[in-house]
Amino acid sequence: VKHEDTVEVTEAPEGADDSDRKQVTVLFGTQTGTSESFAKSIAEEGKGRYENKIIFKAIDLDQYGADNEEYEEKLKKEALVVFIVATYGDGEPTDGAVRFYNWFVEVSIAKGEQRGDWLSELNFAVFGLGNRQYEHFNKVGLVLDDALEKQGAKRLLELGLGDDDKCMEDDFTAWREQLWPALDVLLRDADDIVSASTPYTAAIPQYRLKFYEDCASLVDDPVYDASQPRRARVVVHRELHSSLSDRSCTHLEFDITDTDLLYETGDHVGVFAENNPETVEVAGKLMGLPLETVFSIHDDSADGTPLPGANGTLPSPFPGPLTLRTALARYADMLGPPRKAVLAVLSAFASNPEEAERLRHLSSLKGKDDYASYISSSQRSLLEVIADFPSVKLPLGVFFAAVAPRLQPRFYSISSSPRHALSRIHVSCALVHGPTPTGRSHWGVCSSWIKNATPADKAGTKCSWAPIFVRKSNFKLPSDPTVPIVMVGPGTGLAPFRGFLQERACIQSSGSKLGPAILFFGCRDRNQDFIYEEELAKYVEMGVTELVVAFSRESSEKHYVQHKISEQANKVWNLISSGGYLYVCGDAKGMAKDVHRALLNIVQEQGSLDESNAEAFVKKLQADGRYLRDVW
Ligand code: 2AM
Repeated sequence: VKHEDTVEVTEAPEGADDSDRKQVTVLFGTQTGTSESFAKSIAEEGKGRYENKIIFKAIDLDQYGADNEEYEEKLKKEALVVFIVATYGDGEPTDGAVRFYNWFVEVSIAKGEQRGDWLSELNFAVFGLGNRQYEHFNKVGLVLDDALEKQGAKRLLELGLGDDDKCMEDDFTAWREQLWPALDVLLRDADDIVSASTPYTAAIPQYRLKFYEDCASLVDDPVYDASQPRRARVVVHRELHSSLSDRSCTHLEFDITDTDLLYETGDHVGVFAENNPETVEVAGKLMGLPLETVFSIHDDSADGTPLPGANGTLPSPFPGPLTLRTALARYADMLGPPRKAVLAVLSAFASNPEEAERLRHLSSLKGKDDYASYISSSQRSLLEVIADFPSVKLPLGVFFAAVAPRLQPRFYSISSSPRHALSRIHVSCALVHGPTPTGRSHWGVCSSWIKNATPADKAGTKCSWAPIFVRKSNFKLPSDPTVPIVMVGPGTGLAPFRGFLQERACIQSSGSKLGPAILFFGCRDRNQDFIYEEELAKYVEMGVTELVVAFSRESSEKHYVQHKISEQANKVWNLISSGGYLYVCGDAKGMAKDVHRALLNIVQEQGSLDESNAEAFVKKLQADGRYLRDVW
C-alpha cells in the first residue's frame, strides 16, 4: 500500500470554483491498509452522496504536514475533519501517524487542559481501530478525540470504537451510517446541497488489464512499496527447536552487504514474503487462468481517464508485466478471512442467483451472525470462500483491486546487533501452523516462507531472497552500559534481547564495564524449545547477563516468567529503583498484561506503596522511557 499519495477524491463540477466549495478532510493513519480503505471509502461515498458539490479529501496523516508548523497551520484552517486512526501494539499509533499524534498530544498539553479555543472553527469526528483483547484498547482514538474537544473543536459524532476482535467492519459501517446525517446538518446550508441521505451505491473498483502474448522482459522489481524494501539474500537457516518439539522456530540470517540498509539493536525488520506454490496453484485454478498468463494492471483507462475508484479505493498498481504466478505469489493475501465488502463484490459476480443472494446476505449488517459463524469462527480463508461459490467468475482486474488485499509485510524484532553482525539481520521466527475448524491446514504466509527458505551455499548457487526494510523502534539499551537492565522475553520474545546481549558482549570485550542485567526467559520444556540455550549459557559465563528460565510444561504446575519475576521481587525492585530499565517483549494479550500486574505488585510490596502510588510509579517509569515494551 502506497502512503505517499494524497488523493483528492473529487472532480469539480463544470464551472465550479473550489474556493466556494466546502471541504471535508478525512485524515487516516494506517498500517495494514484498513484505515486507509475506510478513509477512502468515506471520501468516495461523500463525493457520490453530495454529487461533487462538497470536496472530500482522504489524506495520510504522514503527508498532511511536513512539520509541526504545517500541521498547526492546516488544522486551524479546517472546518470539517474525520479522523480514522488505528492503535497498535502497546497503545501506539501507526508508523505514519506517529508524527502527527505526538505533535498534537504535545501541543494539547502545552495549551493546557482547560478548554481552549484555537480549534474553535473545527468540527470533527473520530473513528478508532483497535482490539479489545489488548490493554490499551483504541488508546490513540480516545486520546485524540478527547484532546480535540479540549482544544475547542466541536464533536460531530460520538467516537467510534472499532473492535477487531469482533467485526471491525460492522462497527465502522454502523458509525458511518451516523456520520452522514451529522455532516448533513452542517453542510445543508450550503447552497444547492442535496441531502446526503440520497441512496448511495458504491462502484466496484477495478484495474484495467493488459495481456501480453509473448513478452521478452518481465519485471522483477520488489521496490514498489513506500517503505522502499531492498532485496536481501538468505545466508543462514536453522531450526531452533529440538526434534522432540512438535512446533518449529527458525533462525534465519539476511545478508544486507550489498544494500543500503542500516539497523540498530532493537529495531524491527519488515519482510515481504511470498505465498507458497500450493496456495498459488489453488488460486490459479479458481481464477480459471494458466499461471503463465502474462499481464500488467493499470489504474487508468486506455485513453488515460481515471477508472471508477482509481483515485479512491484502488491501491497503486504493482509493477508489470509479470506472470499470474508471480502476481498471486507476491501481491495477493488469500489466506486471511474475506471482509464483508469483499463478499459484496463476489456477490456481484455470481451468476447463480442463490449464491449471489447468500453472499449478499453474508455481507449485510443483517447477516452479522452468519458472517461470524461462516467466516470468523470457522477461520475461512478468501480462497475457501471463492471455492464455495463456484458460479463466481472474477475478472483479474477486480480480483486484484477489490477482492484480494495486498499481501502486507510482516514485522519481526531483529535478533542481532549490528556491532556483532554488521552485514546481517537475524530473525527468530516461530512457525504459525495449525488446523482450522473447516479442516483446512493453515500455514502463516511469512513464517512458512521463512521456514522453507533455502540459504545460500558455498558455491553461491540459487538461494531464497525477500524484499526487506528496517523499521526503527524505541526499544533501545540505555546509552550508559553500567545502568542496570531487566529483560523479560518468553518464546520468540527473546529475539531483541539476543541482540542486546550481543551488543553488551561487544561493549565488554572493548574493555568497558557492564552494569547488572537479568534476563527472564520462558519456554515449554528444556529439551524442546529452549532456543539459543548454548549462546545464553555463554553470555551467563561471560558475565553479560544473569538468566532465569521458566519451564511451563515440565511439571503439572505452570511456571511462567511472571512467577519467576515475583520470586525475585527484591532483586528486580533493587535494579529498577536504582535507575534501571525494564524491557518486556512478546505476546501482548496474555504475557505482557500478566507481567505488568506482577510489576505493580512488586512496586507496591517492595516499595511500600499503596495501589495508586504504585501505579503512579510505574506510569512515571514508562514516561521516563525506563519501562519499554515490544509486544504484539
Ligand atoms: P504454555 O505454552 O505452556 O502455556 C513461550 O511461548 C512460553 O510462554 C511458553 O512456555 C508458554 O507456556 C508461555 N506462556 C503462555 N501464556 C503465558 C502468559 N500469559 N504469561 C507468561 N507466559 C506465558
